Amino acid sequence: MCRGGALLHPGHSDAVPLQPTMKFFVKVPATSANLGPGFDALGLALDLWNETKFTPADKFSLHIEGEGANRLAPNQKNLIVRSMQKVYDAAGKQMSPVCIHCINRIPLASGLGSSAAAIITGLLGANAMLDNPLSSTDILTLATEIEGHPDNVAPALMGGLVVSTMNESKVVARKIIGAQHVVPLCVTITLPDFNFPTKQARAALPKHVSMKDAVHNISRAVLVIEAFRNGDLDLLGKVMDDVLHQPYRLPLIPGAREAMDAAKKAGASAAALSGAGPSLIAFSAKQDANIGEAMKRAFESVGLSARVFELGISEEGAKIEIKE
Ligand code: HSE
Repeated sequence: MCRGGALLHPGHSDAVPLQPTMKFFVKVPATSANLGPGFDALGLALDLWNETKFTPADKFSLHIEGEGANRLAPNQKNLIVRSMQKVYDAAGKQMSPVCIHCINRIPLASGLGSSAAAIITGLLGANAMLDNPLSSTDILTLATEIEGHPDNVAPALMGGLVVSTMNESKVVARKIIGAQHVVPLCVTITLPDFNFPTKQARAALPKHVSMKDAVHNISRAVLVIEAFRNGDLDLLGKVMDDVLHQPYRLPLIPGAREAMDAAKKAGASAAALSGAGPSLIAFSAKQDANIGEAMKRAFESVGLSARVFELGISEEGAKIEIKE
């Protein structure tokens, strides 16, 4: 099965007012930005979720289990808490004490939107605690301010395939309603055990690109959207090539180029760097363990262990579940 389930959507008029004693969960999906030629513009929500429980308490506490439990700060410096503070600041209120319990499933620094998930968790959590003073648009604007770019936070909030850009310092984002409903697209993520910070990945990019390369990507990015809208994996395979970022990043991740080729040889229709990497994303009509195995072996052949995640696309974005 290549898809996820549904609940209460935050920032919508159907949001149930919270009572001060209510516990609630914020659930936020992983995201894969760029999708080959859609550099800094496209992002896709994946069916891998961080779940965070907010419980009213006498004093602040933060517990983290799962991905990053040993690395993330369990205090006010945590990105979830810093994001919550932005909502309280915007509302002109003092932050209420709360017990926050994170169950993290999105690997850190992987190209799967873990920081976007933390930001959206904090913003939605604080917004719910304040009885939703901010709209979804406000949340997206704040999230983009914190993250610096919208291509992960937008699909994390909205779900599905989202195209986003900045216009006069404001985020413009649209969810592409597509035929993922009728044609399941299955995703294989392979994450090598390799440190490749986004800062380093961005520093590797050229300051200027040629007209030919710009046209190469613009035309393909539009066709990538069309491929998703129609669940057309043949088309996706023809147009996922990129010349703006992958040629500069792939050589810096040992085994990545070979793993991308191996995914396609093993039957994937298309493959790309997920976000700035180091993980790779491959698409296929059916879930096929051979694809992940082939990518994993390519990384192992250069001495890197790798983890494989077989996922679906999530049509749903972040959501809040209330537990009384
Ligand atoms: N679009 C961004 C990049 C995603 O490729 O640098 C990283 O967060």
